[in-house]
Amino acid sequence: MRVLIATEKPFAASAVNEMKVIIEKAGAEPVLLEKYESKDQLLAAVKDVDALILRSDIIDSQVIEAAKNLKVIVRAGAGYDNIDLKAASEKNIVVMNTPGQNANAVAELVFGMLVFMARNKFNGTTGTELKGKTLGIHAYGNVGRNVARVAKGFDMIVYAYDPFLSAEQINAEGVIAVNSVEELYKVSQYVSLHTPATPETINSIGYNLVSLMPKGATLINTARKEIIDEQGLFKAMADRPDFVYVSDIKPSNIEDFTSAYPDRCFFTPKKMGAQTKEANTNAGLAAASQSVDFLKTGNQKFRVN
Ligand code: 3PG
Repeated sequence: MRVLIATEKPFAASAVNEMKVIIEKAGAEPVLLEKYESKDQLLAAVKDVDALILRSDIIDSQVIEAAKNLKVIVRAGAGYDNIDLKAASEKNIVVMNTPGQNANAVAELVFGMLVFMARNKFNGTTGTELKGKTLGIHAYGNVGRNVARVAKGFDMIVYAYDPFLSAEQINAEGVIAVNSVEELYKVSQYVSLHTPATPETINSIGYNLVSLMPKGATLINTARKEIIDEQGLFKAMADRPDFVYVSDIKPSNIEDFTSAYPDRCFFTPKKMGAQTKEANTNAGLAAASQSVDFLKTGNQKFRVN
């Protein structure tokens, strides 16, 4: 049994070492492909492996077709929009994720970026505080919950909307549930996005929603690029000189944003929400255990296809 860890953006070395131990202890052989620069390298590496562990790496039908022995794909992380689930299912390949394992890392980055923007990118001028401000969490899953926990430490007033949860479930966690997305944006000085990229959410955050936010609003995206209607957002920034956008995922038209609104937007150079030693260890080890467990026992917990 061969288990390939294919990460264009590598895990921390300590996490990889621990993953290898888990794989070897299960009697399998770990294979490592890191920082690869071309798809051909990935196509060659998947050829004869039984399991594939990855991060945001694109696993399309061509990769799946090239992986003749593949039985399981484990996304070490939450979002699996980078994997062609249909192609995997057609070849009876099980796809899993490792939900929650990197959620705290993303939540901590949210507040790092919010404070950075509230303090004018640390330029020494008078900024604002998060205390007492309203925060809307758009989608209340693992990351959203962690964001709520940290926000309470900042004494923020926390609202959330999630189409898959009842108001009772959200309120039970000390967070104020709202009845609609529109209401969330109306009440929130800050909105933090945590929706996956699905046909329903793609391009769903744009001019109309952002325009509902109160004066001096900030939108923060540590979720997915695709959920933003970039043109609509750009127009909203033009209409509202008070509005701030900060994101861990660069927009396609990044130069337009940064040249037109240098003080009101910020983008990390590379998606780094889950890029901590702890998150790499949590997600990587979970992925290693899930892959070998599936190969040995058929355990399909966290299957997504
Ligand atoms: C996720 O879906 O788990 C996050 O977006 C992290 O992605 P990454 O592993 O590519 O950093």
